[in-house]
This record gives sequence, C-alpha cells and structure tokens, in this order.
Amino acid sequence: MKRIFAALLVSLAATAATAAPDLEKGKEIAETICIACHAADGNSGIAIYPRLAGQHAAYTAKHAKDIRDRVRTWSLAESMVAMVETMTDEDIDNVSAFYEKQVSLAGEADAANLKAGELIYRGGIAEQKVPACMACHGPNGAGIPAASAAKDGVLAYPRISGQHKDYVVAQMQAFRSGERVHNMMAPVATRLTDQQIDDVANYIQGLR
Ligand code: HEC
Ligand code: HEC
Repeated sequence: MKRIFAALLVSLAATAATAAPDLEKGKEIAETICIACHAADGNSGIAIYPRLAGQHAAYTAKHAKDIRDRVRTWSLAESMVAMVETMTDEDIDNVSAFYEKQVSLAGEADAANLKAGELIYRGGIAEQKVPACMACHGPNGAGIPAASAAKDGVLAYPRISGQHKDYVVAQMQAFRSGERVHNMMAPVATRLTDQQIDDVANYIQGLR
C-alpha cells in the first residue's frame, strides 16, 4: 500500500514538472496555427480576431480550451474549433504562455466619441450603477494576472487594452444577452446602452 502511494506521489510530481510551459513549442504553434487569424505575435489586424498579445496566460488557455471543447460557443467561436480540435491541454498552455510574453500594440480610436468612452472607462456611470472598467481591468487596460486575481475567485482579469472595438462590442452583447455567462460582466453590460458600449469599446481599442 505504502509503495503504491509513493508511486502515486512520484507520478503526480512528474505531472507537475511537465506543466511548466515550453515557450519554444508555444512559439511554433503560434507561428503555424494561430497565425492564420490572431497573427504570430498576437496583434491581429483583423477586427473579428481578438488580440492575444500580452494576455494573461491563464485566461488565454481557459478560453482556447473552452472553444476547443465547444463550451465557449457564442459569437464567432465555432470558426476556430477546427484549428484547435486536436490540440492537447499542454499545447494550449504552451502557446498561451508564449502569447503572454508578446507586446500588445494598441489600435487607433476614433476621436469623435473618445471622451465619452474615456469617462465610462475611468469613472463608470454612477446613475446607471455602472462601475469603472478601470477598477478591474486596470488604468491602462492591462488587467490583473491570475496570481493576484485568485483571491476574488477570478481566473484573471483579462487585458483589454488595444483590443479590437468590434470584438469588444460583440463580447459586451454576449454578456448582455447571457450567452456569455459571467457574474461580474453581466451587470456591467446589461446597464450600458448600445451607444455607451460603442463609446467605451472605441476608447479601449486605442488604450495602451
Ligand atoms: C480560423 C481562425 C482562427 C484560428 C486559426 C485561431 N483562432 Fe482563436 N479565435 C478566432 C475567433 C473568430 C475568435 C473570436 C471568438 C468570438 O467571437 O467570441 C477567437 C478567439 C480566441 C480566444 C478568446 C480570446 C479572448 O480574449 O477571450 C482565444 C484565447 C483564442 N482564440 C486562442 C487561439 C489560439 C491559441 C490559437 C492557435 C492555437 C487560435 N486561437 C487559432 C479564430 C481563430
Ligand atoms: C468587477 C470587475 C469588472 C468590471 C468593473 C469590469 N470588468 Fe470586464 N471583465 C471582468 C472579468 C473578470 C472578465 C473575464 C471574464 C471571463 O473570464 O470570461 C471580464 C471580461 C471582459 C471582456 C472580455 C474580454 C475578452 O477578451 O473577451 C470585456 C470586453 C470587458 N470585460 C469589458 C469591460 C468594460 C467595457 C467594462 C466597463 C464598462 C468592464 N469590463 C468592467 C471583470 C470586470
């Protein structure tokens, strides 16, 4: 019995050891698979493909696995499934760690409604009980990594700076409709009007 227990411990230790991400393998996956839509450095130039550069690895890994496993099915997720279907958890952890190390570049915001978006991002809208996005996503949109977010029962507060406006709008609509279930984002999204979502998403696209 003791020996079986010892063997179990050894195999657990081996699993933990292999869990350290391999950035070289991650890079290879980014450059052969993800590149088609998200770009090799994660700064996709196409609005429907979210930017992954600088995103917290824990967040990227969870969402890539959820898309692979058809748990994340809202919006355009289905179009990615075939690309990741055969990938292991380890592959996804590796490529997520690689993308976390890439520098996120901001897009360009439309100057017209920039101020309105900035006010929502930085101050929220008190009369609609909308909290400032900054409170959770950080003053420059870098989010909060997994290690510090864990105390709130959150995997990571995702980086949203520089994210494509169209993608942000699509996610806000998914939070609002309930297709994308999240206890923190649902109340935020449901209290914003379409115009306010447009304003704040434009601001986020230009944020760095
Ligand atoms: C054929 C295009 C395509 C390829 C290739 C692709 N994806 Fe995606 N990916 C998408 C689309 C489209 C979305 C947006 C889904 C949505 O609308 O919600 C997405 C979303 C994501 C998200 C969610 C981002 C977020 O901010 O929540 C992650 C993570 C992701 N992809 C990781 C990857 C990784 C890692 C690879 C390579 C192994 C990859 N994708 C390959 C199309 C693709
Ligand atoms: C109380 C904390 C909190 C506040 C306030 C908050 N968020 Fe979030 N937000 C989160 C968390 C946590 C997630 C990650 C959800 C998940 O894991 O699926 C998230 C996810 C998102 C996403 C999806 C990112 C992606 O890559 O798919 C967008 C877009 C977003 N938030 C925008 C906003 C905007 C805009 C505001 C302000 C109007 C805001 N958030 C306010 C906590 C917050």
